[in-house]
Amino acid sequence: MEGCFEKIPNCNLAQICADEIKKANNIVLLSGAGMSTNAGIPDFRGPNGIYRRQLGVNPERIFDIDYFLEDPSFFYKFHREFLQTLKNIKPTYAHKFFAALEKNGKLKGIITQNIDSLHQMAGSKNVMEIHGGIWKSFCIDCNKTWDYEESMKLVFSQEVPRCDRCGGIIKPDIVFFGEMVKHLEESQKLVKECDLLFVVGSSLVVTPAALLPRLARGKIIIVNKGETNKSYLPSNIPTLHVEQDIDEFFKAVNYHIGLDFE
Ligand code: OAD
Ligand code: ZN
Repeated sequence: MEGCFEKIPNCNLAQICADEIKKANNIVLLSGAGMSTNAGIPDFRGPNGIYRRQLGVNPERIFDIDYFLEDPSFFYKFHREFLQTLKNIKPTYAHKFFAALEKNGKLKGIITQNIDSLHQMAGSKNVMEIHGGIWKSFCIDCNKTWDYEESMKLVFSQEVPRCDRCGGIIKPDIVFFGEMVKHLEESQKLVKECDLLFVVGSSLVVTPAALLPRLARGKIIIVNKGETNKSYLPSNIPTLHVEQDIDEFFKAVNYHIGLDFE
């Protein structure tokens, strides 16, 4: 891993990655929607992504805060579909691999753009959900909150869930376009301090998440098939881009490391 985006034969990539993991003491993962496609959850910008659907309007409106305030039913239609997809999902091999890396002390934290909680289900402890999560909902007018079970009941019993105290619209604790991300400072600190940053399953289009790798001072390994935006990446940090299926790649990596977690 001496230069940036070196062309290394595929068969050697897993070995190189395993060697980097062995050398590293402070690994951090930045994950995106591609991390969960093998669990059956569609991503946004991949070939079968949510934003590829022909909706007649810009699909990014699903998570646009202004549009949500104007017409929350548009978001809720997709949210109900998403929540159905989440039923019975299980963490993928890669989720479990990173949980095992934390358990053995190498990995210090995960910064995820995902709201599916699969990292936590896999056993990961230090997880920064920078785009929020589905664990909680709140009233946008009076701030009353509902836990996961209560939120589920409300979402599936009303077209647009409303607050029983003030009639305000209820919104899940997911970060929409136009809202501040969560845990940004802690995430920046994790990236600054790590000696090996993995970026897995993200197109690196959405900021500020896509800007985090700029803070890295060690090495970066990107595992992402398909279009990956490299314009925000630092030019002075050794960066390897692996364009393979995430689960297949980490299975090959673990062949060289031998973490026991299945
Ligand atoms: P994207 O959908 O933009 O990117 C996912 C990437 O993963 C794509 O480049 C896919 O080709 C790749 N991919 C999918 N499955 C893969 C696999 N099995 N192996 C290898 N690569 C695979 O998802 P994010 O970058 O996470 O924000 O998107 C960022 C944000 O955009 C999301 O958090 C969401 C969205 O709008 C909000 O909702 C606020
Ligand atoms: Zn209220």
